[in-house]
Amino acid sequence: MTWWRGAVGYEVYIRSFADSDGDGVGDLRGLHDRLDHLAWLGVDIVWITPFYPSPMHDHGYDVADYKGVDPVFGAMADLDAVVEKAHGLGLRVVVDLVPNHSSSEHRWFRESRSSRDNPYRDYYLWRDPAPDGGPPNNWVSHFGGLAWTLDETTGQYWCHLFLPEQPDLNWANEAVRAQFDDILRFWLDRGVDGFRIDVAHQLVKHPDLPDNPVADEPDDVEMGTTASIWETLEHRYDSDQPGTVEIYRRWRKVADPYDALLLGEVYLLEAEHFERYVRDDDGLNLAFWFTPLHVGWDVDLLRRALVDGAGFRRGGVAWVSGSHDRPRAVSRFGGGEVGRRRALVLSTLLFGMPGTPFLYQGEELGLPDGVITSEEAQDPIAVRTGELEHSRDVCRTPMPWTPGPGLGFTTAARAWLPFGNRVESDTVAVQRADESSTIHRYRRLVGLRRETADLHTEPVEWLTDEGPLIAYRRGGTIVAANCGAQAVALELPEGTWTIVFDTTAATESADAGRTLELAGHQAVVLRRG
Ligand code: NOJ
Repeated sequence: MTWWRGAVGYEVYIRSFADSDGDGVGDLRGLHDRLDHLAWLGVDIVWITPFYPSPMHDHGYDVADYKGVDPVFGAMADLDAVVEKAHGLGLRVVVDLVPNHSSSEHRWFRESRSSRDNPYRDYYLWRDPAPDGGPPNNWVSHFGGLAWTLDETTGQYWCHLFLPEQPDLNWANEAVRAQFDDILRFWLDRGVDGFRIDVAHQLVKHPDLPDNPVADEPDDVEMGTTASIWETLEHRYDSDQPGTVEIYRRWRKVADPYDALLLGEVYLLEAEHFERYVRDDDGLNLAFWFTPLHVGWDVDLLRRALVDGAGFRRGGVAWVSGSHDRPRAVSRFGGGEVGRRRALVLSTLLFGMPGTPFLYQGEELGLPDGVITSEEAQDPIAVRTGELEHSRDVCRTPMPWTPGPGLGFTTAARAWLPFGNRVESDTVAVQRADESSTIHRYRRLVGLRRETADLHTEPVEWLTDEGPLIAYRRGGTIVAANCGAQAVALELPEGTWTIVFDTTAATESADAGRTLELAGHQAVVLRRG
């Protein structure tokens, strides 16, 4: 049980990880052939983004069959081979479950929209138009525009918190719940070790679907055109509803006998909302705490995000500093050498926390965002709203494995998304050959996390609460980070402290003395004795 405690996870964005068949799109066989990289890095859990049959309006987060593999990613036998090889290497496999919405091409939705009295009608959220013929309420989509589209044939609107091609399932319907019990069992019987649950905080909606209160309507946000429209409403009725955790309680009854992990994408940035998902022993096992991903390089906000995340009672927090949905940490923190140093400092802080840290592919290389022009855009957010600044393409560019055309990612003349200006020193091969490269720092950090028992068990004691330093102690281990540009000093507690990890590598193995000196943007891990 709880094999994820003390483990390190790694997110594979399957389209961009490794392409085995030369069509320019990453696939399961490509992942299979590159699993050795993950074993070398030392991670324990591989989370694979959706590989199910899909029309790909949202690159797989629009699932047309929850029990299949899309031919672009391979066949079921390839998934089985990934699971078998991963297990042989000591890696656990977590697959992505997308229960908030299906694809509009899923058989359930095709049935559902065919007539008002179809047995599948109630699988989705259908409502009559408002008296003026407009949408039933004021809800908006995460991807810009309204959350309702009118079906001309049956005269009702369907609800979609994402694209119209991603209709929201009706979780008040017991038949939907039963379907997902069955889907969980299907994958668990194939040997997967758990699920990352997409949009885990939004499955349940208020039964009356009332208007959301208007939060703030900045003048420059025009209805219907921009992704920022999401921020104009307070999400009182379409998010974080009572009854959501009950779904995970039900799933735990399915998953626990398999000793499987339920890891939620709980996109709630305030501690008091997030906490209920990881509070009880029978809800989610882990949930991603995204607040560190949403603050810039601001030491007070970072400290707050860490203190909150460390305080959740059961410690069921999955820590991330990057994902396929957000700009990469190196770029968020200013880019270049400074951005790279800051990203490693943040990773060091996260890897010392209670819970389970995850890396996003390419983070171990210190990659900045890829450069993608508006003509090259693929992300539905960018395509739908025309706003490149919200595009997620920049963090989804293909993984650079080796120098040369195709970067070892593909043999195709073009990948599905351009490489985004990678250079030779960004590649896995070049970095692995250079002991001073970023990948070797991450490998050391992963190893340290695994081998340091204090980091799995001891409570967090904060050593600083202001200034550029963030430092905490867990038993005989201290993690200290200088988030500022100037050198600073930290008085160490009684005892002899040895530097066992240094983001700059310069001081590793040294005795820290009574006063630890840290250069600008440097973090270390110390061990007593
Ligand atoms: C969260 C996923 O991470 C994102 O990529 C996707 O677009 C939305 N959920 C909708 O499924």
